[in-house]
Amino acid sequence: MRAILVGFMGSGKTTVGELLAQRLDLKHRDLDDIIVERAGKSIQQIFDDEGEPAFRQLEHEVLADTLANGKGILSTGGGTPIQAANYDLLRKSDVPVILLNVKPETVLSRLTDDGQRPLVKELGADGLLGLKEKRDARYHDVSDIEIDTDDLTPIEVVDAILASV
Ligand code: S3P
Repeated sequence: MRAILVGFMGSGKTTVGELLAQRLDLKHRDLDDIIVERAGKSIQQIFDDEGEPAFRQLEHEVLADTLANGKGILSTGGGTPIQAANYDLLRKSDVPVILLNVKPETVLSRLTDDGQRPLVKELGADGLLGLKEKRDARYHDVSDIEIDTDDLTPIEVVDAILASV
């Protein structure tokens, strides 16, 4: 890979990853999309049928594989850096890990229960913000570059990334 995007749900990893890849003429992959392709079902379906631990196992396998063999820009899932084994992989990776920071109010304004994110449905607003607070230090620790995205458009986020790498 050439760069890895991390951050909480709703931080814009997928949108920014696509735009960044276009700008650099690289391919973009979203970790959740690769998981869905491998499992042959949606993330919600994996959570429903097999539970979150099975999803996390698959997520780890796909991350290890993609870091070893993938090219271009990778957007991770919001929970990816939280598992110890993934944390180590990201810390050791020699490509820039870029954190898209978001304030709690931005998260709430962007995330609606659209049936695509099991944790949004499961946790509700307070639970989501609690989860974000627990995860923030971990995101920070795996990242080489941090961008505060709240007041930026996705294109401005890409500009900020390119100015900092
Ligand atoms: C998750 C985030 C999701 C997806 C899954 C779990 C999380 O990815 O991997 O629903 O634990 O934060 P996005 O951050 O792309 O929504």
